[in-house]
Amino acid sequence: MVGTEDAKYSNKEKKDVQKGVIFIRMFATAVLVVALCGACMTAGQVAVKAEPQKISQSIKAAAEVDNNHPPIEPGFSCVDCHEIKVDAETTATQNWLYAETPGKEANEGVMPEELLLQHVRRVIGGIKMESKTFVLGTSMNNRPLTTTAEFTLDPEKMILYGFHEKGTEKLNHIKTNPYVSLNYHKEFESFDVFLCCQILGTAVLIDGTGPEYERIIIDLLPYEDGARVPESATPQQREEHLKKFRRGIKKGFYISKIAIDRLTMINIDFVKNGYRRVQRWERKR
Ligand code: HEC
Repeated sequence: MVGTEDAKYSNKEKKDVQKGVIFIRMFATAVLVVALCGACMTAGQVAVKAEPQKISQSIKAAAEVDNNHPPIEPGFSCVDCHEIKVDAETTATQNWLYAETPGKEANEGVMPEELLLQHVRRVIGGIKMESKTFVLGTSMNNRPLTTTAEFTLDPEKMILYGFHEKGTEKLNHIKTNPYVSLNYHKEFESFDVFLCCQILGTAVLIDGTGPEYERIIIDLLPYEDGARVPESATPQQREEHLKKFRRGIKKGFYISKIAIDRLTMINIDFVKNGYRRVQRWERKR
């Protein structure tokens, strides 16, 4: 009989069944949405992790992310995706270097390049035992690391050379990221006596098989102290001893060769001669 099936259910029960159907539909839709979005999110994450896309939009150094910004995974930094513009007009260093200040017209007091290089050579120059101790900054996976190490300047080419035991953290950093920064400074005494020298550079590691290696050790690096040549040695014995020592260290040590890209020196002495206290040298490309 038509309608008997229906008659079994009261109106209330019918409503409950309809609600159930609606609920199941909603639930299915929700599952579908979650599944799809989950897939999108996973695909997005994998793509970003594998290779963050450099996007064309450059940002200012002072930019901040807002709520609309795509999510940033831990370990990524702004430079992975954006080119960062350092605003030439507003940064403090640019002001010190070139801007109009109470004592100076714009660009007044900028040292001629050759004179600045003479100062650079006086402060961080010197070969062999006259090598200088720097703090070297390296970075891997956006985690910076600073290490104290000796470097010798080739003053003509503006290249720094260091001598490093294999298997150290900083060398792993340089292998994955050649951009380094170094700093040499005198302990701050007072506002009448201060000096520091900040460097940006690009590093390569030279191992003992390279032909440059021997020349750099012999001409520049202060290795003789480590060789402990006996005082009684004749010049010929001394040569033999050093040669043997050099053969030994080739296996265990890398030489780092750091081309200075930019050097900024702050030296209060500059002021005495009418120059700005902050001066900068940049390698011409
Ligand atoms: C994984 C890549 C990635 C990282 C890391 C990242 N961004 Fe972005 N950023 C983007 C994308 C993609 C956009 C959107 C571009 C668009 O909408 O066209 C964007 C947009 C922006 C914008 C808006 C630009 C404009 O002019 O509208 C700003 C500002 C910004 N990001 C700042 C930052 C800052 C600051 C950091 C570091 C804390 C950062 N971003 C890290 C990918 C990234």
